[in-house]
Amino acid sequence: MSTQDRTGGRSPGTREEFQAIAAKLLAAAQFLQIYPPRHPHVEQGFKELYGQLSEQLQRRGKIQLAVAPTEFLFGSIQIPIDAELLEELAKLLKAAGVQKLEFTAGLEEWETRKFLNLLLLSPDQLWAMGGLSEVIPAEGITHIVASMIKLGAGGTTDPESLFRTWEAYSTGLRLVQSIRGRVRADGTIADVEEAKDFARELVELAVTETRPLLAVQALKSHDDYSYTHSVNVAMITVAIATSLDFPPDHLHDIGVAALLHDVGKELIPLEILHKPGKLDDEEWVIVHRHGRDGARMLTSTPGIGDLAPVVSYEHHLAYHDDLRDDPDWRPHLASEIVCIADVYDALRSERPYREGLAPDKTMNIMEEDVGRLFDPDLFMGFLRMMGYYPPGTSLELADGSAAIAYATNPDDPKRPHVMLVKSAEGRLIDPPEHLDLLQSGPERQITGIADPEKVGVEPLDVL
Ligand SMILES: [Fe+2]
Repeated sequence: MSTQDRTGGRSPGTREEFQAIAAKLLAAAQFLQIYPPRHPHVEQGFKELYGQLSEQLQRRGKIQLAVAPTEFLFGSIQIPIDAELLEELAKLLKAAGVQKLEFTAGLEEWETRKFLNLLLLSPDQLWAMGGLSEVIPAEGITHIVASMIKLGAGGTTDPESLFRTWEAYSTGLRLVQSIRGRVRADGTIADVEEAKDFARELVELAVTETRPLLAVQALKSHDDYSYTHSVNVAMITVAIATSLDFPPDHLHDIGVAALLHDVGKELIPLEILHKPGKLDDEEWVIVHRHGRDGARMLTSTPGIGDLAPVVSYEHHLAYHDDLRDDPDWRPHLASEIVCIADVYDALRSERPYREGLAPDKTMNIMEEDVGRLFDPDLFMGFLRMMGYYPPGTSLELADGSAAIAYATNPDDPKRPHVMLVKSAEGRLIDPPEHLDLLQSGPERQITGIADPEKVGVEPLDVL
């Protein structure tokens, strides 16, 4: 049975397949830049690129690649831009303003050839012609689609700040990996300075523009909990703390503490941490110890400050029944914020035993614990900032139209500002139309969260 039969023509593509395309694309482009048009090397370059693309298209029917600040997305896999070849390719695509490329079955050699020639035009020439996404169909190319970087086109967000947020996210993920590796290796916490730099960057982003921060963390995949959780919690925590007007120094400390809140988990044996079934009582005791273990490690880490151990110790407020019964005890405000961010991200994330929950459902569940687990004022601040539909959420409206949440309405977290992207008749609205749902009639109220694939508009393009 061929790959195509097994996957319905949608095998996801591998890292090696991406590397092969990247290498051929770059080689063909370089030959074209160095040699005269009909030189044998140029011909060879086209041929090999076309050969590679059509071979993969036969297996998959479609090849999608997108370039983000620090990684490529190839179908659904993320490939860090960590080699010269990939840096060169990213530079080439970004210079032409390309964010996404899609090749479909039926691709002809002349299309590949023409596309590459267009890709190498100067940015000024390209933009004068309306950008590559316009030029490609105008040239009759139907099996290659380029989507352009137009972040911020629909809204007020500076595209740079979305990119910068994305970059911070990737940096955070790498940092978490590195810290975890070291704790597992020798029980110490490394990268303290990097963690502080990361927190500083998050604070700057949260102060200048909260929306991209929320959108990026909301739109990033929630499918690898252990990997993304600490970064998500750090982002949400810093966003909440910033909205509460903490002084900058405190914000930095809170960011570091949030990033490291679960560092004690690295001392939990992997067979317990990844156990698919239910934990027994003894195993639960070990899991519950991670706050205390983290605090101990953090206390003996030079330069980390006083707050991180406190937050690590306290962040599972639910475990501290003993303390909560003590009328004189009150958890640190930072622990209370991290607790909110921690529960929110845990519920939103996919886990081995359940799917990740939608943002509105997550809020509904958390609201039941306000006053018990969550401080009412802090939670209200969080809700006003995040809303039921954080920026970037695709939405269905009552009349059958589709919209993307754009900014929360502090006066009504269930009715955000949105960008209308599809009419009730299913027609794409470009540019998207701004709607304040607080000011809109019943036909334009939210009836549910939509699948972005079905809506057919990339949420980040609209923010
Ligand atoms: Fe935890």
